[in-house]
Amino acid sequence: MVPADFSAYSTEGIHPMPAIVLLGAQWGDEGKGKATDLLGSSVNYVVRYQGGNNAGHTVVVGDEKYALHLLPSGILTPECIPVIGNGVVVDPAVLLQEISDLNERGVDTSKLLLSSSAHLIAPYHVMLDKTSERSLGASKIGTTGRGIGPAYADKVARLGIRVQDLFDEKILRQKVEGALISKNEQLVKVYNEEAITVDESTEYLLSFADALRPYVTDTSLVLNRALDNGAVVLLEGGQGTLLDVDHGTYPFVTSSNPTAGGACSGSGIGPTRITRTIGIVKAYTTRVGSGPFPTELLDHDGDQLREIGGERGTTTGRNRRCGWYDAVVARYATRVNGLTDFFLTKLDVLSAWDEIPVCVAYEVDGQRVEELPDSQSDFHHAKPIYELLPGWKSDISGAREFSDLPPNAQSYVKYLQDISGAPISAIGVGQARDATIALADFLSTTPSQGV
Ligand code: GDP
Ligand code: IMO
Ligand code: MG
Repeated sequence: MVPADFSAYSTEGIHPMPAIVLLGAQWGDEGKGKATDLLGSSVNYVVRYQGGNNAGHTVVVGDEKYALHLLPSGILTPECIPVIGNGVVVDPAVLLQEISDLNERGVDTSKLLLSSSAHLIAPYHVMLDKTSERSLGASKIGTTGRGIGPAYADKVARLGIRVQDLFDEKILRQKVEGALISKNEQLVKVYNEEAITVDESTEYLLSFADALRPYVTDTSLVLNRALDNGAVVLLEGGQGTLLDVDHGTYPFVTSSNPTAGGACSGSGIGPTRITRTIGIVKAYTTRVGSGPFPTELLDHDGDQLREIGGERGTTTGRNRRCGWYDAVVARYATRVNGLTDFFLTKLDVLSAWDEIPVCVAYEVDGQRVEELPDSQSDFHHAKPIYELLPGWKSDISGAREFSDLPPNAQSYVKYLQDISGAPISAIGVGQARDATIALADFLSTTPSQGV
């Protein structure tokens, strides 16, 4: 027998510089945009790996406020290269509009790279998203209506149109034709809408080809070569762990994998490259759209969290549902993502309360459970079990060191760390870039000690 030759897999020559994953640990809107922007100047590439323009990331730089949907938050840092990975679904009209809006404000977008394998959102996906939500009535998901679900459905059904198809008219036409057969059946027979023609869809998509061409490349190759050469790559998730199509509150989820595994498949980087996985977690909880939410507050406290936290959607303008911090959700995010760190955001929002409840476990059918119920029906009627923590009732937005925080705020953070499963390595105390308490170096391979 010929002995196996493993020399090609030698780790010699693999550079120790890291790929870092940054993702939402709850139901989205945790402040991923701010956290990514903050790290932007320390990394070489920022990559969106899933989702599309369902995301809404508000980033405040000085006096300027930016709302990003499809572009990675690294776009605002001149030194870093923003990448839209193969796992993203791209609405070409939205992408070009976002680019031109930023250009008008003086932001250089010329370094953007777009994966040739990313799938496109066509107008028929948007139409189907809206019609299917309407037909679900009271059981609707509460999607953003951006065509995300139908575009991913086509990808998995092998009926999707990819960015590279824009550069071969014949192939594009064939693929559009294939995709429209079932869609027109559905639109005409089920939803009573007009059929879409192959010509109009093909022409529409082709109209973006020239404008997109300069950005398009094999982004997996670029990123792997960059890592080999010592670059630092930040993989930025959209949405959040509980919206993951596999690990979230299905069916009230998005149609992609925001969890850490999605960072690999959505960018073409292997898991051995990743040195840190940072979960962005709010000091309380929010959710947009339908679905279970054990700590939701339908009272004055909920309204106050929404008001003080500015919890209105960046994408759809919908009011976000608000509730207290849920450590069961945080522990679950630690588990399914293998989190090495938490970045706790919006601690400043809690400064108004005398006492702050924190959900430590659930009661399900009279039993105390510490882990997220595996059964959706159980999760739907899980009741939060709260511990009450004393508030600090003072403005903490100027704190830049952990010791600047009042003792009760320090205790609150320590308590969350103890029950959430991973060290808290940064704390957000305001919208601005510098309104942050940094407790660890995310670029280092040394594990964080937290607070
Ligand atoms: P993303 O989707 O995870 O990027 O989060 P969003 O941008 O949708 O929502 C988070 C909101 O909170 C944005 O308006 C941020 O500017 C804001 N934000 C982020 N971190 C902090 C923080 O530590 N304190 C406060 N007050 N606001 C924050
Ligand atoms: P960021 O990146 C919060 C929610 C929608 C809906 C569900 C499915 O800003 O955190 P979709 O349009 O994706 O099919 O909708 O997912 N949702 C988000 N909620 N933040 C987001 O993104 C979201 N993207 C999708 O509200 O409940
Ligand atoms: Mg958001």
